[in-house]
Amino acid sequence: MIETGDMEFESRAVAPEYTEADNETEFTLRPQTLQEYIGQDKVKENLAIYIEAAKRRGEPLDHVLLYGPPGLGKTTLAGIIAHEMGANLRITTGPAIEKPGDLAALLTNLSANDVLFIDEIHRLSRAIEEILYPALEDNALDIVIGKGPSARSIRVDLEKFTLVGATTRAGQLTSPLRDRFGIVQRLELYTHEQLSDIIRRSSNILGIPCTADGALEIAKRSRGTPRIANRLLKRVRDFAEVMGNGEITADIASIALNRLEIDSLGLDSLDKRMLTMLIKGYNGGPAGLETLASAIGEEAVTLEDVCEPFLMQLGFLARTPRGRVATNLAYAHLGFTKNDDEDDGQLTL
Ligand code: ADE
Repeated sequence: MIETGDMEFESRAVAPEYTEADNETEFTLRPQTLQEYIGQDKVKENLAIYIEAAKRRGEPLDHVLLYGPPGLGKTTLAGIIAHEMGANLRITTGPAIEKPGDLAALLTNLSANDVLFIDEIHRLSRAIEEILYPALEDNALDIVIGKGPSARSIRVDLEKFTLVGATTRAGQLTSPLRDRFGIVQRLELYTHEQLSDIIRRSSNILGIPCTADGALEIAKRSRGTPRIANRLLKRVRDFAEVMGNGEITADIASIALNRLEIDSLGLDSLDKRMLTMLIKGYNGGPAGLETLASAIGEEAVTLEDVCEPFLMQLGFLARTPRGRVATNLAYAHLGFTKNDDEDDGQLTL
């Protein structure tokens, strides 16, 4: 079971966060082996070596930290690690582990070499982190029984296991926790070609006829994110079935994605609101993230985790020490002309 946390997001077709609607196909589409997994070549090559070495030594894999924007396949990689190691996978999230007893129950139920996946690991409380440290280092759990002067600690041995932690914000991890991961890998946004390959693989599995151009059109508008690509594939299929003969072509994909208000580069209304506010409200910046977020009535974390990695990849946004700045490319894409007169940065939205 996957916990989705307690964050609420606007229902955007291009929101990279996992939703229940992704659930029905996500498991069928998930690759089981590194061989089947498309993209993230450096991560895959490194993991293949670490997994092979651990297996040869007959040991569990060292603890792994995966970080990067949401929707890039961190849970999928945890599943692959477990599968390749011939181990079980247990999935939970940082905010779901509320009490020390929750973590103790999880850890004491692990069998030898199991993989424990903790998503949003930056949201673990300090008290829970403290319990995790001896588990990660010495495969032991220190349980305090009693209170006050008669309190004492007993040590319970655990099976050797691998923790796979995932986070969108590696910077928010405390350094003692970060230091306990032997393997730290950053996931990158996917290229259009990689996303096309993922869409073609998914359409084969789901039995959706899809041309190469159709897959590429969806790929271009998926913000570098497989979860979004697979979600858009399902939406475009609906249009292909009702408006065409069921086959996804570039034309059908384009019509469908325009209807979903996803533009030719994958920007949706939130990206555009953010950039438009920066350009028209703050003369292109620099503007602070919090200022921008409150100006458009959004959470700063949503802008930071969801919009910014993609807008920076497109070269539309720069982060400077003084704040966010819209680039010439952003002006051109949104059809604004650059106004260098500082005094004219008035709100004229
Ligand atoms: N489905 C989602 N992500 C994938 C990936 N990286 N490779 C193959 N299929 C996927």
